[in-house]
Amino acid sequence: MSGNKKEVLRILRGQEGGYVSGQRLCEQLHVSRTAVWKYISQLKEEGYSIDSVPNKGYALVNAPDVLSEWEITSRMQTKSFGRRVVCYEETDSTNLRIKQMAEEGAEEGLLAVAECQSAGRGRRGRSWCSEPGSGIWMTLLLRPKCEPVCAAPLTLVAALAAVSALKETTGLDVKIKWPNDIVLNGKKICGILTEMSSEVDYINYVAVGIGINVNTRSFPEEVKEVATSLFMESGRSCARSVIIAAIMRYMEEYYEQFLMTKDFSKMQEAYNRQLVNKDRQVTVLAGEAGRQHVLYRGTAEGINKNGALLVRTDDGAVQEVVAGEVSVRGVYGYV
Ligand code: BTN
Repeated sequence: MSGNKKEVLRILRGQEGGYVSGQRLCEQLHVSRTAVWKYISQLKEEGYSIDSVPNKGYALVNAPDVLSEWEITSRMQTKSFGRRVVCYEETDSTNLRIKQMAEEGAEEGLLAVAECQSAGRGRRGRSWCSEPGSGIWMTLLLRPKCEPVCAAPLTLVAALAAVSALKETTGLDVKIKWPNDIVLNGKKICGILTEMSSEVDYINYVAVGIGINVNTRSFPEEVKEVATSLFMESGRSCARSVIIAAIMRYMEEYYEQFLMTKDFSKMQEAYNRQLVNKDRQVTVLAGEAGRQHVLYRGTAEGINKNGALLVRTDDGAVQEVVAGEVSVRGVYGYV
């Protein structure tokens, strides 16, 4: 049932505003006219604006910014990533949901998406603000066939996919702050939390959680200095399902490249081009959030093929900064 509804949406989208006849929908879906009419009525009830003209057929005029399974999957152009989507009106954390489904045997490419998270989690034990309707809170399940020591670049794969997709869908000048924050005009719009379950020599699964502030209108006091949203920077609302589908497409492409070499070498240059820290002064910090101390300062020269940030210190030595061990800030602030 929802499979057919998804197909109707996909066919209407393929017309790019043009009309498709009821007859053609019947033939493509192998269903009756009454069934087609029912799918169209259901879509209208869900907020899709569909024009029906006798002897011409149906045209999709407008789609609501909803995160339903058919809204998302009808936009997918991937082989497997995001072809199966589990949507939640509210859940604790999509990372927790994917981890549970992974333990139960779910397949690579499964995507969990929530309108709202009651216990959204960030890196370094921080919480992640996940208000309803305002953002993309989603987690992708991966089962890479590589040794756990090779998995670190996966979080950079996600950052490169997110930045590529956001550039393509919004036209905004988004950049990566090493290792995997996405920034716009010096403030954070997207964070990535990658969690892995592994044995000594193999990976059970990797959960790649991506949080994007899309249509957020304001932030709580404690984060408003460093956080922003696509809406706040551009004054425009964005359709979240369009961004999700684009991220899945880039993610699948870059993940295939990662699997070929089991490192980040094929994406290193593309990543460095998007790196906001490149050729800038950075401060490398150690320790827990709130109790950090400065290790050293230097100029960020880009990443190597394993995703480590190369920082040239004042004495000319080059340090390899490994994600997770330390954090990096701009000398004058977050970027
Ligand atoms: C960060 O601290 O920058 C990482 C934030 C990651 C947030 C996303 S939202 C979807 C997924 N579910 C979570 O609980 N966290 C990630």
